Amino acid sequence: MVEKLPLESLDREELKFSQKHILGIRYLSKNDIEIIIRTGAAFLSVLERRIKTTPALKGRIVVNLFYEPSTRTRTSFETAAKALSASVINISIESSSVQKGESLLDTIKTLEALGADIIIIRHSSPGAANFVAEHFSGSVINAGDGATEHPTQALLDLLAIYMKFGNLNPKKIVIVGDVLNSRVARSHFWLSLKMGWEIGVVCPPTFFPPEMSAAFPWVRHYTDLEEATEDADILMALRIQKERKSGLYYPSDLEYSTFWQIRKNLLSRKKLVLMHPGPVNRGVELCSEAVYSESSIILDQVKAGVALRMGILYLLSGVLSRGSDSS
Ligand code: NCD
Repeated sequence: MVEKLPLESLDREELKFSQKHILGIRYLSKNDIEIIIRTGAAFLSVLERRIKTTPALKGRIVVNLFYEPSTRTRTSFETAAKALSASVINISIESSSVQKGESLLDTIKTLEALGADIIIIRHSSPGAANFVAEHFSGSVINAGDGATEHPTQALLDLLAIYMKFGNLNPKKIVIVGDVLNSRVARSHFWLSLKMGWEIGVVCPPTFFPPEMSAAFPWVRHYTDLEEATEDADILMALRIQKERKSGLYYPSDLEYSTFWQIRKNLLSRKKLVLMHPGPVNRGVELCSEAVYSESSIILDQVKAGVALRMGILYLLSGVLSRGSDSS
């Protein structure tokens, strides 16, 4: 288990954090990433207390603006914001004026007029979070924009890895599955680049086409699970995103699971740590017994998610306060 940093020790670190938004890992420096992980690690201890709240964001308004379905990301952000004593507003597409034709810009301006400080947005359009950041005076967190980035997922994965290994020393991470449609994979590509880690993908060639390989030349593509995991530390499975027509890219679920499904035996034989951002299609990308096997840190990812998001909200609120102090 990693050393838990007391919250009081954060002040010096926090002062060095200057990002106003979390739009993508590609905009963060290694130093930003390490500050976020250290801050998230400090909040793990708050979550182990019987009273899991701190007043850090009291008086702040945090809006969860979700235009795509989500269970864990939305509830994780909500839990994190409430644990920091923020007021939380949840807006989902089904119940918003978007159904009446309101534009994203008008929604943002309305939320700003209501006094929102931080907007967390999930949207199917690439660049939606950047658009919000351009038009909103507070901070914006990208909770997934199309297949572009999902930065807090990659960062919470890094915190879960830190909890497991006790350090952030270079590792080899291999991602298996529907890389093509995955914003989680793309955020991990950037994260490995920034951290100086080795990263590979293992999937049918249709899931890692030449244009994607050209965009991320530091990512090694394998088609064979045995070869890909040769000297890997972490194996991360991705959901086959059927709603994005992933089924067209491989012949059948049976064919997919024969070649690329992660089985318990592989994990124990190669001493791999198993991760998955969820939700899992049991029996497709993972065999059922692997999900909560000894190798799996899937539930630690969920736990790390709340602490990591508390850390991010805390850091952004610090940046917002400094901005308003100086204005
Ligand atoms: C992922 C997402 O929505 O990008 N899930 C998540 O946020 N935990 C991946 C997925 O939907 O498969």
